[in-house]
Amino acid sequence: METTMTTAVPKLTAIHPRIPSNSFSLGFSLTFPAKKSARVKQTCSPSSHISLRVSSSSQSQAATEATKVSSIPSEMKACVYGEYGGVEVLKFDDKVSVPEVKEDQVLIKVVAAGLNPVDGKRRQGKFKATDSPLPTVPGYDVAGVVVKVGDQVKGLKEGDAVYGNINEKALEGPKQSGSLAEYTAVEEKLLALKPKNLDFIQAAGLPLAIETAYEGLERTGFSAGKSILVLNGAGGVGSLVIQLAKHVFGASRIAATSSSGKLELLKSLGADLAIDYTKENFEDLPEKFDVVYDAIGQCEKAVKVVKEGGSVVALTGAVTPPGFRFVVTSNGDTLKTLNPYLESGKIKPVVDPKGPFTFSQVAEAFSYLETNRATGKVIIHPIP
Ligand SMILES: NC(=O)c1ccc[n+]([C@@H]2O[C@H](COP(=O)([O-])OP(=O)(O)OC[C@H]3O[C@@H](n4cnc5c(N)ncnc54)[C@H](OP(=O)(O)O)[C@@H]3O)[C@@H](O)[C@H]2O)c1
Repeated sequence: METTMTTAVPKLTAIHPRIPSNSFSLGFSLTFPAKKSARVKQTCSPSSHISLRVSSSSQSQAATEATKVSSIPSEMKACVYGEYGGVEVLKFDDKVSVPEVKEDQVLIKVVAAGLNPVDGKRRQGKFKATDSPLPTVPGYDVAGVVVKVGDQVKGLKEGDAVYGNINEKALEGPKQSGSLAEYTAVEEKLLALKPKNLDFIQAAGLPLAIETAYEGLERTGFSAGKSILVLNGAGGVGSLVIQLAKHVFGASRIAATSSSGKLELLKSLGADLAIDYTKENFEDLPEKFDVVYDAIGQCEKAVKVVKEGGSVVALTGAVTPPGFRFVVTSNGDTLKTLNPYLESGKIKPVVDPKGPFTFSQVAEAFSYLETNRATGKVIIHPIP
């Protein structure tokens, strides 16, 4: 398997011991509405239903392995919650119905799943008015192997190694059956072939974050020769905003914020100026920027450092004019557009060194993500 970050950042390439496993709390039943009643199980041991085992970093090897699939089971293991709340609502269930595949969808055998802050906010019920009904199998980001294709699918076939953000609209009716499961069904248009040089762990961390980074830059009208300040340059989105601004959009100058221990990472990603937010107030610096990309919720301060006529895009928190906010739209074409940059190594995924977390460590992985201190992406692998 390849290293998670090929840029020379010693702290990130170090191998970290796994956090000890912590069993989910148990003892309730819930009905997963697809078909059958669901029984919550205490452990998450390897499935006996499935012959497919993909752990290779190579797309071609994965595709070869995929041909060994003898049958797709009707039930699968999944991480499920039946009520909104903290990580304690997360349960394991090994009798969840494998999702039906619609005409425009493929069924993916999940190899790795990436966590995003939106998973936690959704679980906490922060957008329950537009959420799909409970119970929920969480997970937006997936990397895995296609095991079944719908009748109208044209560009993908069984055995393809793919990645994507499974929910076209992040907050509007995200799928009830997400990527923290053995299988997930996804529209072909939301997927792309996994970059050949990336393993499934690296690929699983990219979709939602890189789509957000790219869409935000496009919405600001970012272009070659412009300067940018990225607030939260070390997070899942910000680490990609820096790289896209530099390598895809041709930024003239990039500044970014993080705490002291992550300043070298910011520079390795392409930042010309790394600002330690624990020591300096970026809004007090004399420099102004064409674009400020706020990935932390500091729009009120961000608008103070944008040039006249510039743009401030905010991903979270209150918006102060002229700042604006958007919610990411999943789009496989964005991934296809960016795949050459990933395959050439210009854009590198940043995977948090505390991971990957195993499937049985999902609650710990969410707890860690929700400290708001993760570096790059928090990944779950293997599944289960
Ligand atoms: N609107 C949308 O469509 C959309 C899409 C994606 C994400 N989002 C939102 O955007 C935010 C960022 O997402 P993400 O996935 O990048 O989060 P993330 O990876 O969880 O961010 C974690 C990072 O935040 C940094 N951080 C914490 N406090 C900071 C501060 N005061 N200044 C600078 N950095 C700070 C931490 O670095 P240190 O340890 O150095 O503090 C850590 O590396 C979340 O609120 C998410 O929900 C919105």
